[in-house]
Amino acid sequence: MRDRSVAIVGSGPSGFYSAGALLASAEPIVRVDLYDCLPTPWGLVRAGVAPDHPKIKSVSTQFDKIAAHERFRFFGNVELGARVTREELLERYDAVIYAVGAQTERPLGIPGEDLPGSHASIDFVGWYNGHPSCRNLGVDLSADRAVVVGNGNVALDVARMLCLPHADLARTDVADHALHALAKSSIREVMVLGRRGAAQAAFSTSELKDLDAIDALGVDVDLADVPRGGDGDDPAVSPAMRRNLELLHGWAQHGLNGAAARRIAFRFHRSPVEIRGDGRVEEIVLAVNELQADAGGRVVAVDTGVREVVPTGLVVRAVGYRGVPLAGLPFDAVRGVVPHEDGRVAGHEREYVVGWIKRGPTGIIGINRQDANQTVRNVLEDLVDATPRNAEPDEVSAWLASRQPRLVTTAGWNLIDDHERANGRAADRPRVKLVSTAELLDVALGAE
Ligand SMILES: Cc1cc2nc3c(=O)[nH]c(=O)nc-3n(C[C@H](O)[C@H](O)[C@H](O)COP(=O)(O)OP(=O)(O)OC[C@H]3O[C@@H](n4cnc5c(N)ncnc54)[C@H](O)[C@@H]3O)c2cc1C
Ligand SMILES: NC(=O)c1ccc[n+]([C@@H]2O[C@H](COP(=O)([O-])OP(=O)(O)OC[C@H]3O[C@@H](n4cnc5c(N)ncnc54)[C@H](OP(=O)(O)O)[C@@H]3O)[C@@H](O)[C@H]2O)c1
Repeated sequence: MRDRSVAIVGSGPSGFYSAGALLASAEPIVRVDLYDCLPTPWGLVRAGVAPDHPKIKSVSTQFDKIAAHERFRFFGNVELGARVTREELLERYDAVIYAVGAQTERPLGIPGEDLPGSHASIDFVGWYNGHPSCRNLGVDLSADRAVVVGNGNVALDVARMLCLPHADLARTDVADHALHALAKSSIREVMVLGRRGAAQAAFSTSELKDLDAIDALGVDVDLADVPRGGDGDDPAVSPAMRRNLELLHGWAQHGLNGAAARRIAFRFHRSPVEIRGDGRVEEIVLAVNELQADAGGRVVAVDTGVREVVPTGLVVRAVGYRGVPLAGLPFDAVRGVVPHEDGRVAGHEREYVVGWIKRGPTGIIGINRQDANQTVRNVLEDLVDATPRNAEPDEVSAWLASRQPRLVTTAGWNLIDDHERANGRAADRPRVKLVSTAELLDVALGAE
């Protein structure tokens, strides 16, 4: 049987896991070209995972193994929709898998959301992780309080990054501009807001526990918010919730360490209703909520009408990412995903989705592997029956070179990787990231 060839757009975990599953197929044999709009691969493993979590980032060694496969090619600096179109990919490949993740944020929809000093987590996280489009975000850390909206793991990452001692941060691959800005930060308190209660928070217990390991950090929790702590005999409280409550209860009972250099203050039952300031963020207005069960039994926050005003100079809105539509593909605007049946794009032959653009913006890295396996099973099933229609690898390269003369191949990425790691070794860090597209391309294109 003639080899088949598949284009995957997006080189985050779901793109790489899909590539790995395709390359493992014995019948048909598949070649994989993995595209990314950035000159660098790995998606949120590079641009999302917190710098102080190097173990989690080490999943990239699995991606390197996949990238070393003889039937695999990486094409970076190629944006679908700008440099190439879906139709052009479909002309050259037997199948196209979209693994583009969730490229924007869920809006809060409140006045003042866009004031300078109010940032979406996707931008703030991109800023400290060296995403080229976020390096000039202009983060102002001169206030003494920051407010992080949301009770998910991204909110915790952001809060931790704002509180980590410089010595800890300086050992990570945090972007240099962020390292320098955070070293001069005046922020002493990071208030983390949950619109519902402590039991409903989406934090992982391991992420919460990380706070105990930070030197000179105080954690402020109101005992009234975690009255039962871990002893809950309430069946609505799952074991994961109970573990979180135990930790929060412990901090609440322990009281705040007055000597702490910085503190994270958890405030529950609070929704932001307005961000105010004269030309930039100066305060945030919070609605005080009470919890009720809705018709389906879900615990929801209901505004009591009571308001609180909290002075702050920095707001990070960590209320979830959101997928964006891809031209020509169907889009579920409510969920921010491409509608599909087990990965097959609804109403489209030879087009598939995987990862956050398929499921929505939740789930840890490993979940994308099972998800990719599901989509790839269907890709392979369809490929077996279809007539091959792929272009020769050299023809694809020639076409791409005409579309993007500054193409980053696997060799180019390896040069970037070596360069960053070498600079890291000199500074006792895992890597020192290049953060501008121009610098990345200069290093990568030294390869050719
Ligand atoms: C801030 C943050 C921290 C996280 N930390 C952890 C953690 O510590 N542990 C954990 O297990 N999980 C973590 N996660 C979850 C994990 O990152 C996701 O499950 C995973 O990255 C989703 O994979 P994906 O491939 O669908 O999307 P992504 O990782 O977002 O990859 C999408 C890729 O598509 C590319 N792309 C987008 N549009 C185009 C286009 N038009 N043309 C070409 N390329 C395009 C992007 O550049 C990107 O490389 C975190 C998530 C976030 C947001
Ligand atoms: N170390 C790790 O493993 C790690 C690190 C980072 C991220 N991740 C994963 O990446 C995924 C994304 O994380 P995330 O934190 O972006 O999303 P998330 O887990 O979905 O959390 C979003 C939070 O925002 C709140 N929220 C939503 N809309 C709001 C609004 N209008 N006003 C106030 N609060 C609002 C939600 O509250 P409600 O519950 O009330 O809706 C929830 O607390 C998750 O699966 C996460 O576990 C993992």
